[in-house]
Amino acid sequence: MEYRSLFSPHTLKGLKVRNRIVLPPMVCFGYTDETGIAGPKNFEHYSTRAESGAGLIITEATAVNKDGRAASSQLGIWSDDHIPGLSEITSIVRGHGAVSILQLHHAGLVTPPAVAPVALGPSAEADKPSTRELTVDEIHGIISDFIKGGIRARAAGFDGVELHGAHGYLINQFTNTLWNHRTDEYGGSFENRLRFATEIIEGIKKHCGPEFILGCRIGANTPTLDDGINVAVHYESLGLDYAHISHGGNLQNLPRPPKGFDYNWMVYSGVRVKEKLKIPVIAVNEIKTAERANYLIENGLADFVSVGRPQLADPYWVKHIQQGEEVNACLSCKPRCRWYESSELCPARKKLKEQVY
Ligand SMILES: Cc1cc2nc3c(=O)[nH]c(=O)nc-3n(C[C@H](O)[C@H](O)[C@H](O)COP(=O)(O)O)c2cc1C
Repeated sequence: MEYRSLFSPHTLKGLKVRNRIVLPPMVCFGYTDETGIAGPKNFEHYSTRAESGAGLIITEATAVNKDGRAASSQLGIWSDDHIPGLSEITSIVRGHGAVSILQLHHAGLVTPPAVAPVALGPSAEADKPSTRELTVDEIHGIISDFIKGGIRARAAGFDGVELHGAHGYLINQFTNTLWNHRTDEYGGSFENRLRFATEIIEGIKKHCGPEFILGCRIGANTPTLDDGINVAVHYESLGLDYAHISHGGNLQNLPRPPKGFDYNWMVYSGVRVKEKLKIPVIAVNEIKTAERANYLIENGLADFVSVGRPQLADPYWVKHIQQGEEVNACLSCKPRCRWYESSELCPARKKLKEQVY
């Protein structure tokens, strides 16, 4: 078979994953409403990608607190009312043979005004009067929201959760000195800046049982790659089960891949993190083709590979690769993917709909 490494199984905390292809978390804006309850559009979205063959399906950023959503139509897990819809997703995904993980999320300082008039974070941002520093009691409340999110995800049948610790959202804001200027036990030293994430990780591990997978999306440049590596090493020491290496939500200190490295700095960061960890590492960003994905696995540069936008553009991307058929290619829209507004605007998907699909 072609792409033998990519299609080889691997284990994640003892659970067999049928291949190395991950559907990374990607919010489907407009698929739910203010309630954050998963509905038919979400079911269809995950059903097609799982049926297609991805080994690991990471459900999109799901809000642990209503006031910390990144948009008013984002999946939620802040109440037990969310469990039935999420259970439907896990039974569909499992039915198609994929492992299911849910991404737990809080937007922190980038919570938009439509969601909350004041965005809360480790510290207020000097140039943004609509932001405020969290009190220690509020921090404890949000840590508890994340832990309850883990417990609800488990109740909904997920095999595990992934903390959204990248892209400049709340967990990443705490770890990064760009946003965290606190002088109490949640700021200052490396250990203090990681206390927020540490308490979430410890709480989820304590309450969700030894078999429940706990991963984290980690911002590589937080603010430097060395910091990102140290964060990953620390999380591993707490018992993290996998690390998913992406960007840290800012354009400073971007690592420079060496000459001849044929992938971007985020993939390079994943490779560098992998050198220091024993747990599986997922590489992501513009990997795009099966050939490029396979190379990373074959050469031991990553354990899993996330293929995001290509699986938005072609729900059956994996199946098409596996059967040697043409994929419906992502057109790499600039300045950014049209799915951020609506899947209906994706030019590749429009093309697909014109075919009999
Ligand atoms: C529409 C859209 C929504 C996204 N939502 C999330 C999200 O919920 N959580 C997250 O960690 N990353 C999110 N991402 C980032 C993707 O997971 C992925 O890292 C990014 O698309 C780069 O991978 P790719 O080049 O394979 O698409 C999103 C990306 C897109 C295009």
